[in-house]
Amino acid sequence: MARTISQRIVDQLPWLDDVAEKTQPKVREVIDRGGATLRNVLDGVWFEIPLHPALTDVPIGSWTATLVFDGLDLATGSKATRNAADATLALGIAGGVAAAVTGLSDWRYLSGGSRRMGVAHGLLNTAGLALSIASLALRAKGSRNAGRLAFLTGFSISGAAAHLGGELSYKYGLRVNRNVFEEAGPDEYTQVLEESELSDSGMRRVEVDGVGVLLSRAQGGKICAIAATCNHFSGPLEEGDREGDTVVCPWHKSRFDLCTGQAIDGPAVFPQSLYHARVRDGNIEVKAAAENVQKKVR
Ligand code: FES
Repeated sequence: MARTISQRIVDQLPWLDDVAEKTQPKVREVIDRGGATLRNVLDGVWFEIPLHPALTDVPIGSWTATLVFDGLDLATGSKATRNAADATLALGIAGGVAAAVTGLSDWRYLSGGSRRMGVAHGLLNTAGLALSIASLALRAKGSRNAGRLAFLTGFSISGAAAHLGGELSYKYGLRVNRNVFEEAGPDEYTQVLEESELSDSGMRRVEVDGVGVLLSRAQGGKICAIAATCNHFSGPLEEGDREGDTVVCPWHKSRFDLCTGQAIDGPAVFPQSLYHARVRDGNIEVKAAAENVQKKVR
């Protein structure tokens, strides 16, 4: 795969890997110590969206407003716009801290080029955030011009960091629902397995119309079917552990409801693609759920 300009620059900085080697295990340890509740909040499981990208809108939006209010302040000398500049700067700092924490959480599973890119993204964002904090302090001391300069420098650095964040999503597919790139599955009920081959407590992966489907029998006896490939980073769910009517991904421990596909524990936040299942003449048949077909990328 061809490399982007940013990748070529980042790849010239091998010390980023050293930073990652030293910090990533500690980040994982701290987040894991917080338990499933903390992990699920940081991942965005309860909101059913990845939390980090949503939070980055706060500093981007707030600091853009700071830029406008600083300009208006310079042009008019209005106290109201000056106060608005300071308030939006402070709001952006608060959002930036929250985005940093959730970003670290997303980064804890990365490896190779994406991890290196993540370090560059994080370091640039840290520099941008530090300059915004310095700007707020300078403004509070009455050094408004120095404060504006510090903010402008920080905002520019944050812009470069945001570009790398975009590459992490669009180039490396970080925090993208991997299920949408798979085949939708059959739109009519299709025979996939003899019912007798599915044990009460087991799970079976079957292939149908180019997609892997994970079959299971719920504790109440109902036969359930969800995508067999984890939507986080494509882990094979059939190799995961079954816990009641849930399955735990063998790669990063996301837990999904076997009958609804709902993500119960992160890092995955999206539900698994869902399939309808029924038994006819001793055979299990499945077909893709309608909402599942609609979200596929063609
Ligand atoms: S691949 Fe990461 S939790 Fe499944």
